[in-house]
Parts: sequence; structure tokens; C-alpha cells
Amino acid sequence: MMLRIMGVTAAVPLVWLGVLPFYVQSLNFSYHNSGQLETILKDFNSKYPTITHLHSIGKSVEGRDLWVLIVGKYPNKHTVGIPEFKYVANMHGNEAVGREILLQLIEYLLINYQSDANITQLVTNTRIHIMPSMNPDGFEISFLSDCYSSNGRFNKNGFDLNRNFPDVFEENTDPTQPETQAVMDWIQTESFVLSANFHGGAMVASYPYDNSYTTPPDNDVLKYLAELYSKNNNKMYSGGDCSDTIGFSNGITNGAAWYKVRGGMQDYNYIYGQCIEITLEVSCCKYPEASTLQGFWNDNKVSVIEYMKQIHMGIKGQVLDMHGIPIQNAIVDIQGRQRICPYRTNKNGEYYLLLLPGTYTFNVTVLNKSLVQNITIQKSLNLSAMTYNFHFGEKTGNPTQTTSEPCSLHEAGNSSSTIQVCLVTLFLRTLLVLWLHTL
Ligand SMILES: *[C@@H]1O[C@H](CO)[C@@H](O)[C@H](O)[C@H]1NC(C)=O
Ligand SMILES: *[C@@H]1O[C@H](CO)[C@@H](O)[C@H](O)[C@H]1NC(C)=O
Ligand SMILES: *[C@@H]1O[C@H](CO)[C@@H](O)[C@H](O)[C@H]1NC(C)=O
Ligand SMILES: *[C@@H]1O[C@H](CO)[C@@H](O)[C@H](O)[C@H]1NC(C)=O
Ligand SMILES: *[C@@H]1O[C@H](CO)[C@@H](O)[C@H](O)[C@H]1NC(C)=O
Ligand SMILES: *[C@@H]1O[C@H](CO)[C@@H](O)[C@H](O)[C@H]1NC(C)=O
Ligand SMILES: *[C@@H]1O[C@H](CO)[C@@H](O)[C@H](O)[C@H]1NC(C)=O
Ligand SMILES: [Zn+2]
Repeated sequence: MMLRIMGVTAAVPLVWLGVLPFYVQSLNFSYHNSGQLETILKDFNSKYPTITHLHSIGKSVEGRDLWVLIVGKYPNKHTVGIPEFKYVANMHGNEAVGREILLQLIEYLLINYQSDANITQLVTNTRIHIMPSMNPDGFEISFLSDCYSSNGRFNKNGFDLNRNFPDVFEENTDPTQPETQAVMDWIQTESFVLSANFHGGAMVASYPYDNSYTTPPDNDVLKYLAELYSKNNNKMYSGGDCSDTIGFSNGITNGAAWYKVRGGMQDYNYIYGQCIEITLEVSCCKYPEASTLQGFWNDNKVSVIEYMKQIHMGIKGQVLDMHGIPIQNAIVDIQGRQRICPYRTNKNGEYYLLLLPGTYTFNVTVLNKSLVQNITIQKSLNLSAMTYNFHFGEKTGNPTQTTSEPCSLHEAGNSSSTIQVCLVTLFLRTLLVLWLHTL
């Protein structure tokens, strides 16, 4: 068993803090089953109680917990101004590499917090949610060295979880599985801003949409993010060397251009969750020998860190009323970049929009009042996005009492009909607010 003894320089501030141990038992490069995974996460949580929070967001069909470890300076709850990031792995139970990459990543963040300035800043400015396995039941029946089969891919009820989400482009009538429901509830609870989910069987970073050939309004940002991940992973960037797939130019692809996916998690995050997500295919073999894991960690280490930092690109802030009170459900639109479901502020009146440097025309709407402003965004060099608050100087009414779902799940259907339903819902919601206001 390896012990990683931390250097004197790192140990001094830790001792000074008085809560962290001298050394951390290093995770070895092997696969960890559900029981071991739970033990490891509980161990991390008890060794680093001030910067971690461990919770289960639900249970698999066979009753296994869906564990999420949160790493952050304020891990227990959202803090205004600190964006929420997530990584999810192993939704296909037999695609096992991402599961171990995420465990290694957690250890890396915890060990380097307070000793590496960049990691300290990242953990201070970001709340990072890490779910090593979304399909623990599938993992348990998968076979080591099985590179190609679909044994273990599905959940215990035989459903592919990456085909099980509501889909705005095409109706999905498959019964929602417990693992999917848990993730949907999680996405609707936290205001996630950026995310990635890990797969195996190819080497490529794939970006939305997965189920439409139309170009998403944030295409520039999506491509930039996928390429940033790929660029920091030489094997992926050079097109991968998987014998059964075509090489991808620069290691990236639009999802639908590769093949269409109905009910995928990536589109759900982007369209219904206001969270940009990309899909990372990180190994040609779905469940390769454990001896290859160290190599996979080395190949992906810079990418997983650099990708997280991108949550601080663009702009963030709050929409406030004439008394400085945050307005929930305000629509924050950017001219030429309107999303299928309008982007809305969360319950703290916050918005977080990932944007490349440039000048954008913002149109912030509360009930029937709009603020239109041109804003120039520069490249952020300090792991904290530019902050800009929109103040409504006149009376706007009070939409804070409306429900918070950005674009109701029952509205899933064709995109044009969805937009219509969104508008009707907005109208009804507005009437409700006016009615509440008269009470
Ligand atoms: C890795 O650690 C586990 C649990 O501590 C142990 O059972 C296993 O033998 C170790 N594997 C290697 C290759 O060291
Ligand atoms: C921290 O990040 C900066 C900017 O990306 C980089 O130049 C520097 O080498 C990093 N420091 C460490 C210790 O990784
Ligand atoms: C701003 O958004 C509102 C509501 O969607 C719309 O009515 C208005 O025309 C928009 N204004 C501009 C300048 O785009
Ligand atoms: C819209 O604005 C007008 C005037 O600015 C105001 O009289 C009216 O009550 C507003 N309607 C709603 C639905 O807020
Ligand atoms: C924003 O910039 C555009 C292009 O320069 C200009 O036409 C428009 O009037 C500006 N809008 C505002 C609200 O300043
Ligand atoms: C970080 O950079 C952004 C964008 O350049 C800037 O608006 C913000 O004020 C900076 N924050 C700090 C704490 O320096
Ligand atoms: C989508 O559109 C097609 C034709 O335009 C229609 O037949 C179908 O019922 C629509 N689906 C949903 C879920 O609205
Ligand atoms: Zn997969």
C-alpha cells in the first residue's frame, strides 16, 4: 500500500490549520467496487471535513446509493457568486475509466488544497460536485477487460440511462428510471453552470446538441470547451487510436454529427438545466486492465482541472429590484443567443453565463419590463468571472413567488411547440403573480 508523505512545505500550513493530517493514504490505481467506493468517499469526507460534503442523491434500482462528494470552500450549500460545477461518470456501468479518474481527481484536489495556489483558488471559487458512478448496479455486473460488449451498460431494469432523459426535440416515452430521476432532481435543485460526463469506447469530446442538427446558440462556447479538454489530452487531440471509430478532427465532435442520441443527459442539462455539459469519451476499451489506469489519469489530469477552471469565463451577477432585492425567474437573454428555454435567474436572482471575450447585447426581462445593455467581456485571468448586476430602477412587480422550473419538463416535445408552451406558461405565471400581488 502506497503512502504519499507530503513535503515539509505542504505539511507546515496543514499542521498549522490543525485539522488536516500529515499525510494522505494514496488511492492505488485499481478498480474500486461499490463498497470500496463508498469507503473511500467517507474517508475523504472525514479527513477533509471543512472542504467536503458527502451526500447520496438517491438510490439505484438495486438500492445502491448514488454518491456525490462536494469539494469547495463552502461545501455544504450554495454561496452567492460561487458557481456550481459537476462531473458525472459511469452512467454506462461498463465504461469504467471515468469512475477511477474522478476518484483520483478528488484526491488530487484535497491533497493540493492549501499547497498549490491554483488548486486552492479553484476550490475557493468553485463548488465542485463529483459523482463517480451514476450506474453502480451496471458496474457490479461488468467484466474487467471487456472492451466492446454492452454487458453492464444498462441499469438493472435494462434501460440505457443516456437515453432516458426528457428530450425537447423528440418525445421520450420510456419510463424514467430511479437513477435518471435522481439526477434530474439534483439538476433542478442546484444551479449547475458547467458539467461533463465520462464514457468509454472512443476518444473524443462531444458537445450539444445530441439530438438535433440545428446549431445551438452557444456553439462557439461549446466547441471551445470541448477543444480545451481535448487539447490538454494529447491522445484525444490527435484523433485517438481506437481501431473501431474514425479519427475525430482535433478530438472533438458535435454530438448529432457523430450520431443522434434521443433522451441524452447532455441535451437535458443544457436545455432544461441551464447547465452546459459535454460528453467525454476517454478510453477506446470500455473496461481496460487496471494496469492502464495510471496512464489514463496522467493523460486526463490537466484536462479535468483546466476544464473546471472554464466555469469562470464570461459573466455572472444578480438581477435586483428597486430595493436591491434579488429577482428570481428574471429572463437574461443575449441578442442572437436565445436558448430554447429562456435563461432565468435562480432563487438568489443569480445568473452565470459562459461567454468568450466580446461585446454582447443583454436583454433582462422581469414581467413586462426589460433592461437592454451592451456589455464587453474580457478574458478572465483570475478564476472569477466578471461580475455585473442588473438593477431595475422602477417598480417591476414581484415575480419572486413563482415556481422556479426554467422550462417545465411537461413541455417536452418539438422545439417550436416547446417555445409556444414556454410562452403560454410564462403568460399564465405572470397572471398568477399579478393575482398574488393583489392579495
Ligand atoms: C489497492 O487497494 C485495495 C484496497 O485498499 C487493495 O485491496 C488492493 O489489493 C490494492 N491493489 C493494488 C494493485 O495495490
Ligand atoms: C498556475 O496557473 C498559472 C496560469 O495558468 C500557471 O502559469 C502556473 O504554472 C500554475 N501553477 C502551478 C503550480 O501549477
Ligand atoms: C427584450 O426581451 C423582451 C421579452 O422577451 C422583448 O419583448 C423585447 O423586445 C426585447 N428587447 C430587445 C431590445 O431585444
Ligand atoms: C406593464 O407595464 C405597464 C406600464 O409600464 C403597466 O401599466 C402594466 O401594469 C404592466 N403590466 C404587467 C403585466 O406588469
Ligand atoms: C449596443 O450596440 C449596438 C451596436 O454598436 C448599438 O446599435 C446599440 O444601440 C447599442 N445598444 C445600447 C442599449 O447601448
Ligand atoms: C477578475 O477578473 C474579472 C474579469 O477580468 C474582473 O471583472 C474581476 O473584477 C476580477 N476579480 C478580482 C477579484 O480581481
Ligand atoms: C412533433 O411534431 C410533429 C409534426 O410536426 C407532430 O406530429 C408530433 O406530434 C410532435 N411531437 C410532440 C411531442 O409534440
Ligand atoms: Zn457511454
